[in-house]
Amino acid sequence: MTTHSTSLYAQRRAKLAAQLGADAVAIIPTAPEQARNRDSDFPYRHDSYFYYLTGFSEPHAWLVIDGQGRSSLFCQPKDLEREIWDGYRLGPDAAPKALGVDAAFSASDLDSQLPKLLENQHTVWYPFATHKGLETRVDGWLNSVRARVRFGAICPSHQRDVCAVLDEMRLIKDVHEQDTMRRAARISAQAHIRAMQTSAHMLRAGQDVREYHLEAELLHEFRKHGSQFPAYTSIVAAGANACVLHYRADTAPVRSGDLVLIDAGCELDGYASDITRTFPANGVFSPAQRDVYNLVLASQEASIAATRPGARFIDPHEAVVNVLSQGLLDLGLLNAKQHGTVDDVIEKRAYFRYYMHRTSHWLGMDVHDCGSYVEPSELGQVSTRQDPLSGETITNRPSRILREGMVLTLEPGLYIRPADDVPEAFWNIGIRVEDDALVTANGCELMSRDVPVSVAEIEALMRS
Ligand code: GLY
Ligand code: MN
Ligand code: MN
Repeated sequence: MTTHSTSLYAQRRAKLAAQLGADAVAIIPTAPEQARNRDSDFPYRHDSYFYYLTGFSEPHAWLVIDGQGRSSLFCQPKDLEREIWDGYRLGPDAAPKALGVDAAFSASDLDSQLPKLLENQHTVWYPFATHKGLETRVDGWLNSVRARVRFGAICPSHQRDVCAVLDEMRLIKDVHEQDTMRRAARISAQAHIRAMQTSAHMLRAGQDVREYHLEAELLHEFRKHGSQFPAYTSIVAAGANACVLHYRADTAPVRSGDLVLIDAGCELDGYASDITRTFPANGVFSPAQRDVYNLVLASQEASIAATRPGARFIDPHEAVVNVLSQGLLDLGLLNAKQHGTVDDVIEKRAYFRYYMHRTSHWLGMDVHDCGSYVEPSELGQVSTRQDPLSGETITNRPSRILREGMVLTLEPGLYIRPADDVPEAFWNIGIRVEDDALVTANGCELMSRDVPVSVAEIEALMRS
């Protein structure tokens, strides 16, 4: 059901309609239900674009908007028999008032109504390469219009990707979205606190702590505060597992003396949060762990300082790479005799051995949210360079200029695998620190900082 006033969604629909062109129609389906196994489905999750424009989270629903701003919803018809088994359906009769759309039909009327809605239009917009079978259905509706051409009907002659417009809209979070994302981040922060404290408590009590015990604490806290789902599969990685970037919470023991990396965030009312903290399982960092942790944290501080309107999306990453590269030389993890100065380390990408991912991604309804990472006004400024590690030719376009209302993660890390040229005290240390930054008028707001991040604060929290 809708979670907010209909005017919010009506405003978004009007903004989309204004960009479609006068003789145009946009078709936006929600997500299909997904079978898990036999007759069990995965928990249903709406399509983000559809939800952004409707606030409606039932399956089997479609939104159609024309260039005049007229909106039609297709949804599941009322059906007492099905509602007894599967739950309440809004139904087309109640939809206009509940959702603020101009008209509503049963989803079973799609094939009869769509040709009428497409007739005499110039352009049909829909999400390209997103919904399996959608292109075929659009073809079918266009063919129905074409069959009437000899009676004077005009068939749309242009197809365009509606995601191109919606991605730009979704990139700038409105006040409602910012508020929801703050609430999601606060719940996730509480979940991280709970997992840290549980780890220390259980180890102090001499219990056998497993990664899944800590995952259970995260899920408990998410759900307790009304989150519908985790925004992505939680990573709870103990010891060496932290060096596996896409590890999940599994059965490995959480041992005193090891670090635990938790990358977990809840989804609340359709919006994701994405937080990583790395902490000592028993609550106290070893000297080597502390050194690497403080280096990662210092690099994150540099990325925070680089996140403000007018800066580029790439700037926080470059700030991180600078700090980490110098720190890797200082700690002896990169040998200055072999690798040279910090500029050489950056130029040759030698840091990549320990830091092999980017610092940021957009965050919003999807954890890796939509939106171009290239500045649209500078698309034509193309240059190429040779990658120093792979030798591949890389195409560069100017990085996106940050604007107020964009949300990006700041998530530097270091992942140190055992090797002959690495001091043993650093072996298997995997550390990432991740926060969610909303670009504000003068800088950025870290929405996820209710969970401590400094060594002293984490150790104090885990003592308590
Ligand atoms: N949790 C996914 C990511 O950090 O990108
Ligand atoms: Mn992330
Ligand atoms: Mn993450």
